[in-house]
Amino acid sequence: MTVKRKILVTSALPYANAALHLGHILEYTQTDIWVRFQKMRGHECYYVCADDAHGTAIMLKADQLGISAETHIANMRAIHEADFRDFLIGVDNYHSTHSEENRQFSNLIYQRLRDNDHIASREITQAYDPEKNLFLADRYIKGTCPRCRTDDQYGDNCEACGATYAPTDLINPVSVISGAVPVAKNSTHYFFKLPEFTDFLQQWTRDGHVSGEVANKLSEWLDAGLQEWDISRDAPYFGFEIPDTPGKYFYVWLDAPIGYMASFKNFCDRENIDFGQFWNSDSTAELYHFIGKDIVNFHALFWPAMLTSAGFRTPTKICVHGFVTVNGKKMSKSRGTFVNARCYLDHLNPEYLRYYYGAKLSGSVEDIDLNLEDFVQKVNSDLVGKVINIASRCARFVTGNDGGRLSSSIDNPGLWDQVSGAATAIAEHYENREFGRAIRDIMALADAANEYIADREPWKLDKDPANKQQVQDICSLGINLFRVIMIYLKPVLPATAEKAEAFLNEELLWRQPIEPLLNHRINSFHSMMRRVEKARVDAMIEASREEVAQASASATPSAETSDASGADSHLLAQFPVAAEIGYDDFIKVDLRVARIEKAEPVEGAEKLLRLTLDLGSESRQVLSGIKAAYNPEELEGRLTIMVANLAPRKMRFGVSEGMVLAAGDKKGIYLLSPDSGAVPGMRVT
Ligand code: 2FM
Ligand code: ZN
Repeated sequence: MTVKRKILVTSALPYANAALHLGHILEYTQTDIWVRFQKMRGHECYYVCADDAHGTAIMLKADQLGISAETHIANMRAIHEADFRDFLIGVDNYHSTHSEENRQFSNLIYQRLRDNDHIASREITQAYDPEKNLFLADRYIKGTCPRCRTDDQYGDNCEACGATYAPTDLINPVSVISGAVPVAKNSTHYFFKLPEFTDFLQQWTRDGHVSGEVANKLSEWLDAGLQEWDISRDAPYFGFEIPDTPGKYFYVWLDAPIGYMASFKNFCDRENIDFGQFWNSDSTAELYHFIGKDIVNFHALFWPAMLTSAGFRTPTKICVHGFVTVNGKKMSKSRGTFVNARCYLDHLNPEYLRYYYGAKLSGSVEDIDLNLEDFVQKVNSDLVGKVINIASRCARFVTGNDGGRLSSSIDNPGLWDQVSGAATAIAEHYENREFGRAIRDIMALADAANEYIADREPWKLDKDPANKQQVQDICSLGINLFRVIMIYLKPVLPATAEKAEAFLNEELLWRQPIEPLLNHRINSFHSMMRRVEKARVDAMIEASREEVAQASASATPSAETSDASGADSHLLAQFPVAAEIGYDDFIKVDLRVARIEKAEPVEGAEKLLRLTLDLGSESRQVLSGIKAAYNPEELEGRLTIMVANLAPRKMRFGVSEGMVLAAGDKKGIYLLSPDSGAVPGMRVT
């Protein structure tokens, strides 16, 4: 090894209001593998994390549980720490954003931003829950989508059609917390002047701190123009009060990344490490943040801008991963594929998943599919069938024939060189977070080792005592190859590596060049990993489904929400916002000309009209949120366009059998009509 690097690594801080699930575990596994690799290579590398403990969601959840927010976050932290431990995530420190260190850094950074004239304040109007007496973030308002009229959509975007809008655009908005109709209310908010950092960020995002694909996404946002970022929230709010500003609190996303510093400070104080060497503006240490693609804006725009203004160093790299899908689909509670970390641990060995994720991870933001059949097959065939098999096949001839001492020479130097010489390439893959490539290379080496053993058939040679030395030499090389492979896999499989160390009677270190163990005493072989049983996987999915059923029987809506997206919807467009569709998709939508036979108000619904539509051969009832724009009588007899093959939807006021098309924005709603001559039932293409 040449230079000893100083590296500080973080994973995104999980919210202290929900259990960790297999999506979280992808990120912690990715970070942990990288950190373990750096540590094995002898670098001074630290991994810190913490609970993200502030915000409305946490406050409401504690309220709902009838406990203080402090007790709630302490409970959640214990649960999260146990999940980290049991998934073998080797954080050096796990802290909380609700900590003294974080309060101090948040205040310090804010005061520096303010002194640099990077904070603005102004009055804004927001939705307010008049029953609960609190301002409502977009996620706390639900109603009917103004574009596609799907019911029960959040205040910032529609999950059915992908539209983004302001909560004031929703039809029939209600507070998710109390069910009250929100009212508009003014208050003063504080803003970080992000647009002043546009030039800096244009440059920073092209300087190798993020991958090319992430830089491209960021430049879309930068080119569209950054907006000032609202960093304050009004009381009641669980967080830190803004200095000199009573009743105003830091928005959770302001102090969350500062939590990285706070956790590290807490660690430095305990371990006597120089904090400034890692965070001062002239630091030569490296700083890596591992995050998911949904929070890139916070880490690659807001965070470097804040750090620069406050006189701290900026991150070396923001390592962005994609989401986890299960069996090719979004994790789903009803299918049982939204699996909590603990539910997995109750059924399966954490190293199975560490290995599977490792084998699929790369440096890109592509989603990672956990295909459960492939998972069983791959873990069994690679780990049990290939890697462990090398040791189990060879051990009995070494420990049996010569009291457990490896030969003093290498039987096949070419093969030894091939396996031990792969260290540099594999290390490079790890360094670049190309774990999938590293694992492919390692498995090719395991194949080569198994072929060698199968070729030499020591079990046959062993039948003749004259072959004793030959058998000993073959199996000694086999065990040496197993050792090198386990050195390479140690960042991924730390527990199995420990068992291998007990067997090999030696700590697995990644020195280069890797020297063979010659004339070295080893211990007897004990099983290192059991096969994955498909039945355990099935049981996990079943248990997960049951957990969800039980939770939803007792949940209130607020338990499902979080205010993380707050007022930033202009920046929160995730990677593909509205995917391009092919012609084949388009023609699936059956658009028809319809005549509005009857239009009538719907009792109790402020914005809905019940339309009876003549489709030529049949009649349909459609509930449409166009009441604000039309008197019912003026619609009767008019032609419009409807989606005729939309599955009937049960809404609060009845079943809607399709949808009429309208353009619309904050100012109005404009029903579409065909030119004269069109007749009911005519297909629109
Ligand atoms: O998205 C989330 O789950 C956030 N709690 C991540 C915070 S990361 C950091 F900035 F603290
Ligand atoms: Zn919609």
